[in-house]
Amino acid sequence: MEKGLGVSSTGSFAGNSWGSIGLLRPYFKRYGWSLAGGFAALVLVDLLQLLIPRIIKYAVDALQNGHATPHLLSRCGVYIILMALGMACSRFFWRQLILGFSRRVETLLRNRMFSHLLGLDKEFFQKNTPGAVMALATNDLAAVQLATGMGIVALFDAVFMGLAAFGFMLYIDPRLTLIAVLPMPLLAFLTSTLSSRLHGRFKKVQEQFSVLTEFVRSTISSIRLVKAYNQEEHQGRRFAQMGETYVRNNIGVALIYGALLPVSGFIANGSMLLVLIFGGRLVIRGTITAGDFVAFISYLFLMTWPMMAIGWVADLFQRGVTSLSRIEALMKVKPSLADGENAVSVPIGRGQIRLENLSFSYPGQARRILDGVDFEIVPGTVLGIVGRTGSGKTTLCNLLARLLPVDSGRLFYDGHDVNAVSIDSVRNAIAYVSQDVMLFSDTIGFNISLGSPDAGGDKIEKAARAAAIHDEIAAMPQGYATRIGEKGIKLSGGQRQRIAIARALLLDRPIIIIDDGLSAVDMETEHAIIGSIASYLQGRTCIIVSHRIAPVADADRIIVLEEGRIAGEGSHRELIEQNAFYASIFNHQTAVPGFGTTGDVLNGGN
Ligand SMILES: Nc1ncnc2c1ncn2[C@@H]1O[C@H](COP(=O)(O)OP(=O)(O)OP(=O)(O)O)[C@@H](O)[C@H]1O
Ligand SMILES: [Mg+2]
Repeated sequence: MEKGLGVSSTGSFAGNSWGSIGLLRPYFKRYGWSLAGGFAALVLVDLLQLLIPRIIKYAVDALQNGHATPHLLSRCGVYIILMALGMACSRFFWRQLILGFSRRVETLLRNRMFSHLLGLDKEFFQKNTPGAVMALATNDLAAVQLATGMGIVALFDAVFMGLAAFGFMLYIDPRLTLIAVLPMPLLAFLTSTLSSRLHGRFKKVQEQFSVLTEFVRSTISSIRLVKAYNQEEHQGRRFAQMGETYVRNNIGVALIYGALLPVSGFIANGSMLLVLIFGGRLVIRGTITAGDFVAFISYLFLMTWPMMAIGWVADLFQRGVTSLSRIEALMKVKPSLADGENAVSVPIGRGQIRLENLSFSYPGQARRILDGVDFEIVPGTVLGIVGRTGSGKTTLCNLLARLLPVDSGRLFYDGHDVNAVSIDSVRNAIAYVSQDVMLFSDTIGFNISLGSPDAGGDKIEKAARAAAIHDEIAAMPQGYATRIGEKGIKLSGGQRQRIAIARALLLDRPIIIIDDGLSAVDMETEHAIIGSIASYLQGRTCIIVSHRIAPVADADRIIVLEEGRIAGEGSHRELIEQNAFYASIFNHQTAVPGFGTTGDVLNGGN
């Protein structure tokens, strides 16, 4: 992963470049016509709005010079109503077309981000908190949506309406216009200053909101821990404090909003005062008509909004671009593990695995977690891997499952170098039960059929039986439809592990890797599972990692891993005779009744 594209120290993605607008190009192209239609409707609204003062002028002038009749006045009224109707219809269309465009952009961009995130690897998610990623998908996308929707509308409106109203005012009286617009730059300046302040404070509100949601998420997902350590009250107090900050930040925003309207109203009224003084004189002198005077005031009103909008729009675009470049930074993050240029898809069906001098270090670390590992697994046989905690067993499984890149040494599946074939080719051949069981807060049935969504109930049940979990599921009130709560909170550790095994068995793949998948079940259940999956494993290549000897004792071959190196290799019998370490674990686990179930010796003997 490239440095600097990830997360800054504050946990947010850095970026602030107008170049990122390129990310939106396809959407502008795709929806160009509807945008054009939206702008046409917007122009129509503005034109009608600009015409209304002309009609009022006509009516007032008629009143002043005594030509007005009830008929003429009603006709003017009808015109105004028709124009208002036309404006209402056109408003409907521009909202539909332009705001609809911004919503589409938001959704399409969100979909792209989501697909991209799914392709990224564990390393990315270790560096970036869920909160930071969620902020991109919520706050930043919202800022882009606002800029591409209301931002575009306000910009267009400010420029078009502002200039047109200014033009009409000039047409009525140039000097009066210059006097009337004198305070306008001040208005634009103030709204822009207040808007950028508002932006800063608004950001604080959003950040605090992320802090709150992340706190709720992490507390709920670790609720057992919170309870076990009696931290409910403490967490409650921390939450209340965060809430306090959130309120203070929100009040900060409200203060600016509170200042924005009165201040701009004051300046606009200052303009009005100038128009009343100077424009009134022009009417008295007969330079302009009373109708002109009324129309002038209407145009001045129409100009006030664009002047305010200029400051607002500038801020809106700035924010949209900042957010967009953060999104772009995310889109540029490449997974550290990706298909090579010439990677081909090949079917891997036999399940022969060969490692040649395989070494591995985690990025940025010099220490070798695996160091020159060599072995070969004959297709259809079972390989056991034992080793102390931290000896590199999970790392080895992740390399085999193509979740970590093979950079040093070589790994072959059915004779194909993994770096020459597509990652999916390998992953599709493997059913992997990882050490930390991952379950979705959905039903048990859903969790078992995660990798095989089309599997019928009978197949799911068969897999569950093989994993020795069916009876327990059947005893639950809703059976396979039982919802398991956040991360499987309603299940025991052993139940979660067996659901994960059932999920892997259901996949029906030629290779199965079980990383310490039986650590949380008692010896009796362990025996039951080993017995029931034995027939399933026949003909498949199987790798079983275990802290205990029992699950691997019947394996065709066992390797003992020590500090990333193979320290012993052979059958159970051979290792007992030849490998002191293996023999000592075996003796510990069988000599003291019940002792073996803890796997203490492999955990470092403490
Ligand atoms: N993502 C990671 N980044 C950096 N170091 C890591 C990472 N994952 C594991 N390690 C380190 O690699 C070493 C081997 O870890 P690994 O999880 O492979 O051990 P293990 O044999 O599976 O242990 P256990 O029996 O406890 O499951 C450990 O020292 C661990 O701290
Ligand atoms: Mg492990």
